Amino acid sequence: MTDTAEAPKKTTLTVTIDGAPIEANPGELLIAAAERTGTYIPRFCWHPRMPEVGMCRMCLVEVSGPRGMSLQPACMMPVAEGMVVDTKSSTVKKAQDGVLEFLLVNHPLDCPVCDKGGECPLQDQTLTFGPGESRFVEEKRHNEKPIPISDLVLLDRERCILCDRCTRFSKEVAGDPLIHFINRGNHTEVNTFPDDPFASYFSGNVVQICPVGALTASPYRFAARPWDLDQVESTCTSCAVGCRVVVQSSGDEITRLQGVDSDPVNWGWLCDKGRFDFESVSSPLRLSAPVIRAARGAVAEKVSWSAANNRIASALRSYEPSQIGFIGGARLTNEDQYAYVRLAKQVLRTDNVDAQLGDGLTADAWLGFPRATIDDLGAAGAIVLLGPDLKEELPVLFLRLRDAATTKRVPVVEFATGPTGSTPYAAASVRYRPGEVAVAAKAVVAAAGGNPAERQIGGAESDVINAAGAVLAKAIAAGKKIVVVLGRGSMAEQSASFVEAALSLRDASPETVVLPAMRRANLHGALDMGMAPGLLPGRVTQSEGAPWYAAHWGSTPTSVGLDTMGMLAAAAAGTIKALVLLGADPLADCPDRALAEAALSKVEFLVAIDTLPNASNVHADVLLPASGFAEKSGSTTNLEGRVTVLSSKVSAVGTARPDWMIASELALILGVDFGYELVADITADIAAVVPTHAGATPDALSRSANADGILVRAAAVVSEPTRDAPADGAAASDEPVVPRVVLPQPIRVRSTEGVVPVPDSYSLRLVTSRVLYDLGSIVQASASLAKLARPATVRLHSGEIERHAMHPGDLVRVVSQHGELTLPMEADDQLPRGVAFIAWNTASSGANMLINDAELAADGTTKVRLESGRNA
Ligand code: SF4
Ligand code: SF4
Ligand code: FES
Repeated sequence: MTDTAEAPKKTTLTVTIDGAPIEANPGELLIAAAERTGTYIPRFCWHPRMPEVGMCRMCLVEVSGPRGMSLQPACMMPVAEGMVVDTKSSTVKKAQDGVLEFLLVNHPLDCPVCDKGGECPLQDQTLTFGPGESRFVEEKRHNEKPIPISDLVLLDRERCILCDRCTRFSKEVAGDPLIHFINRGNHTEVNTFPDDPFASYFSGNVVQICPVGALTASPYRFAARPWDLDQVESTCTSCAVGCRVVVQSSGDEITRLQGVDSDPVNWGWLCDKGRFDFESVSSPLRLSAPVIRAARGAVAEKVSWSAANNRIASALRSYEPSQIGFIGGARLTNEDQYAYVRLAKQVLRTDNVDAQLGDGLTADAWLGFPRATIDDLGAAGAIVLLGPDLKEELPVLFLRLRDAATTKRVPVVEFATGPTGSTPYAAASVRYRPGEVAVAAKAVVAAAGGNPAERQIGGAESDVINAAGAVLAKAIAAGKKIVVVLGRGSMAEQSASFVEAALSLRDASPETVVLPAMRRANLHGALDMGMAPGLLPGRVTQSEGAPWYAAHWGSTPTSVGLDTMGMLAAAAAGTIKALVLLGADPLADCPDRALAEAALSKVEFLVAIDTLPNASNVHADVLLPASGFAEKSGSTTNLEGRVTVLSSKVSAVGTARPDWMIASELALILGVDFGYELVADITADIAAVVPTHAGATPDALSRSANADGILVRAAAVVSEPTRDAPADGAAASDEPVVPRVVLPQPIRVRSTEGVVPVPDSYSLRLVTSRVLYDLGSIVQASASLAKLARPATVRLHSGEIERHAMHPGDLVRVVSQHGELTLPMEADDQLPRGVAFIAWNTASSGANMLINDAELAADGTTKVRLESGRNA
């Protein structure tokens, strides 16, 4: 180094707060820098996840400037080098007194009956910073209270301090501008427009962030007082996003879930389903004791656990491995899944295990692509949506996508057959004809490569294809990542088409990474634990991992088994004789109801282990009650592969047991002692044995540094055998080598290029995907959510309705070659002509009545026609 070398550039700023110097980051707001370094500045309107507005003035502090010290709102002031701040001067105290005195002029002071009392910043800050008494003696403002502004949220207007948090969240974070300031001056209030209720999937967040008790949630109103609550941090298991939550309980009953700010995942937000479906945990519908039936159709009889387990074990013992199948398990903890995989693959030696119900993508597709994280959305060159409507299926992922598109200006290309929640944020929405997503994707890739489309391709307009191609071309030229959010857009379409489309995008750019839009909460964990045919725990194939697991377990299956649709077909044909349903409802969820019905009625022995009754499990020969959310601990894995902790908070209903315990007891009766006494024993076993999970020990998962979870990524763990090759001449060790983590390659399907609709009597193509509130057992067992499920309809372009000489609202028979449904028609001109949309699982006999698995495999789509209800 020479004398002339420059000193390293300082990257932080020095600010003096209350006499003590702190280091702050350039651009950081004073309120945040102070809090980070231990000085709390009171606030109402500022929220770290929303842009600042400076509405309440509670954060006034004295800040040095050219004319000396002056009062400034700390939430609006970025730090500057040499800034001197006083948060405790008499001037500051006087300003805080004044703000609070004015806020309380009309505040009703009904703290003893307010849900927020005891955890209210207005109450707390008045005590800490406010004046001892008020000079205002006038009558306070009175309003009707409370006003229900939606089915879940109530508004007490006179408690509102007009902080603008709820309105900003709704407009800027959720994109649902349904709650506003109305009127002027002294009459300003928060409210909804008369014909526009606060029907947002994210409404519970405004209740959580409202600093006073103006917004309350109907499921919690008067349910408990904050000082009665006890809480643990956990993870929401209602979808695969895996939002961090605190679970609060009072008197051994869950009373509330609140979002926790997990930076890589949910930023503190929850969707209303995740926030309020805890009601199902204490539902009177819960299964609470084992029941058995002497014969199929006989009356169910309550029995002891040992009688039920012995019946299951003796029945399973009597079958060959290939005659036994396990369906489901994607909602369980990693530990439950590992124990069931050991029961099935080690003890019973069957590989007929599938956590999915034929409604997703293959394990190869989920695990085989280079992986994106949720955070990658905000840094991508482009985001491609190639799957389900995120707002309906993975709501908080939708919020992160929306932030990437609106705040970070990442362009979004959407492939969809109709409008979705993401459409308003898409730079290009490629509307493909059902079944032709791969064709449309190839056209977009061609356009990105300089071959613009000149005609409609795959149902998509050429100008949209070219616009989407331009977005990808720009990202590729900049060398930026393209994040593909991949899932199965419609259960009436072949899953392989979506994989083929993603493969085309990957061909276009090596920087393409995939975020799996998985349909069930812990599907990633299930695949990691080996709940798919041909896989063993740790994303290793059966052939690759057999020696390793044979050494640890003693035995593994000898041949690759069947997936769920294969198991159902085999059960219907009589070759699978025993089915075990693990929290699964094939009648509602498999995209071929007739096949599921045939399988469940034909199978000789049906076992179901679940928390709530459903159409499939109520006729089981043995039905076991399992512990549910917050009744057991363990770990779960979100769609990124992030393992987080699940905590138990309340006692299990009746004699319900955790699934890992049920699996271990069955294994013991069948002659194998897993040796698990606590759930932590399984977590430790997984960390010791499963190659991908080497770091995810109970100790590591419980460290506060890992509160956001441990990202389990194949590339970051074992990818090569860990034992050195023996030196020349040394005897080769006969100990097994840790198997390589194999990323299976997604399989290409035949090209669908050039497929055109065949004009036949089945002129419509069916599209069906999930909506947030449906007839699923958890939503229906949650009283506050059950009523939000919309009745089933068939949605069509009004041109189609006219073509059939019918009218919106008419009952119509939707007929496929395999079944029919009678539903009211709804006009939706956002849908293309030639498409019939039915939301999944919204009718007791749902859209899967119309779907046939063999037809999907052969044709890629499901075709339907309409017949007048009058002719029915
Ligand atoms: Fe703020 Fe609550 Fe009023 Fe909304 S209702 S403006 S969050 S005080
Ligand atoms: Fe739960 Fe999913 Fe909603 Fe998050 S987005 S709160 S994980 S249901
Ligand atoms: Fe700063 Fe409200 S918190 S003005």
